[in-house]
Amino acid sequence: MSVTSVVGLQWGDEAKGKIVDLLTDEHQVVVRYQGGNNAGHTVKFGGETYKLSLLPTGILRPGVVSVIANGCVVHPGALLKEMRGLTDRGIDLTGRLLVSDRAHVIFPWHIAEEAVLESSRKQDAIGTTMRGIGTCYRDKAGRTHAIRVGDLYHEDLLRQRVEDVAAQKIAVIRAVDPSAAALDPAAIFEEYRAYAAAIKPCVVDSTAWLHKKLREGSNVLFEGAQGSLLDVDHGTFPFVTSSNSSAAGIHTGSGVPERVIDRMIGVVKAYTTRVGGGPFVTELHDEIGQHIRDTGNEYGTVTGRPRRCGWFDAVATGYGARVCGVDCIAVMLLDVLAQLDELSVCEAYEIRGERTTDFPSHVADLQAAKPVFRKLPGWKQDITGARKLGDLPAGARKYVDTVSELLDRPVAYISVGPDREQTILV
Ligand code: GDP
Ligand code: IMO
Ligand code: MG
Repeated sequence: MSVTSVVGLQWGDEAKGKIVDLLTDEHQVVVRYQGGNNAGHTVKFGGETYKLSLLPTGILRPGVVSVIANGCVVHPGALLKEMRGLTDRGIDLTGRLLVSDRAHVIFPWHIAEEAVLESSRKQDAIGTTMRGIGTCYRDKAGRTHAIRVGDLYHEDLLRQRVEDVAAQKIAVIRAVDPSAAALDPAAIFEEYRAYAAAIKPCVVDSTAWLHKKLREGSNVLFEGAQGSLLDVDHGTFPFVTSSNSSAAGIHTGSGVPERVIDRMIGVVKAYTTRVGGGPFVTELHDEIGQHIRDTGNEYGTVTGRPRRCGWFDAVATGYGARVCGVDCIAVMLLDVLAQLDELSVCEAYEIRGERTTDFPSHVADLQAAKPVFRKLPGWKQDITGARKLGDLPAGARKYVDTVSELLDRPVAYISVGPDREQTILV
């Protein structure tokens, strides 16, 4: 039996999907344990591109069972649409997808509430994906308005809950925005009753199921969504997502204790990106930032928003690596940095005249932080065809070695292009 976890160490979009996809051939089970359809994981192989949002990446590998565990928030309509998108492309999902009965359900009021909350923050908006993720997690913690997947199968209770919650939610929403559209509880009940019937074959107690698989010796892979710096406890609060998107979420989000994990892989982009608001110490507002955005095609998978781009930040990423306790790292999108004369890697911050390698806990300190850069020579060769370490030019090897040294972790994978094949196993 081997249990692996793949987790992003930055602000998401580190190319976790690509690494998970590579590893699915060694695993029988892939588990998403937090987040929802705010995630966007892109995978390329055999000339095809797949974009997964709520579905675990394991769904693309025949024979692998994918689990949406208790820590996730599920919009059943979005889930069914994503499932249809794959079956239309000839992927057989029969018996290959499980959804926890403990996962929480996203309702139309979560999306409506998020819209008014985000607009009320004005210039301080978090820049969320507007999928009702944060409002659904808030209701989970608050309990009063929460509805779980298992509740969908208690019809009388569900009808009453939808009626009660919709009435309370519309009152709150209209207090902020009197012009907000009405919520029709009868229509919502019918809509969700139909969803419940459609997803019923997938719904299980995923905790019990996972423990059984582990007892039987199955290899299980935990697929993180978002990244450590977006973690609600450990990230750049309040500019975070609403779940534990570092490795901290694995235990609570799946019911599987973290100590069964044999190998934890931290995924890092060779530079830094962030979507939405919040501090970003190494952000580039110049032509190099635009060059990285264009070369790396840095536009959001879910929302299409241009991603903010900047140099690699070893202070922020090193913090992510420590919080997660990763054993090794995967350095992704290294090819994007080719053609630049000189590269910068942030090795410390200077905050109000003080130099530090600690990642500050308050956004005000992060906003005040100035990056202290180590300069590295660039390389001009195209490296997208490299398949072993020896194929990389000296500049690229030096760059990867520097990242590894600053994070104090060995490098297990280097990615030089989006395709499954464009990977160096170190
Ligand atoms: P995730 O959310 O962490 O799974 O990452 P995303 O899929 O949102 O973003 C990563 C993007 O980079 C996707 O479009 C991938 O196809 C692409 N990608 C992955 N690895 C590489 C790489 O090594 N080089 C390049 N150029 N693109 C890559
Ligand atoms: P993957 O799994 C990058 C960001 C949003 C916003 C903040 C809160 O593809 O790496 P939310 O809708 O979750 O309440 O938004 O988090 N965000 C992501 N950024 N990658 C993601 O997922 C993200 N999921 C959420 O842009 O700043
Ligand atoms: Mg993504």
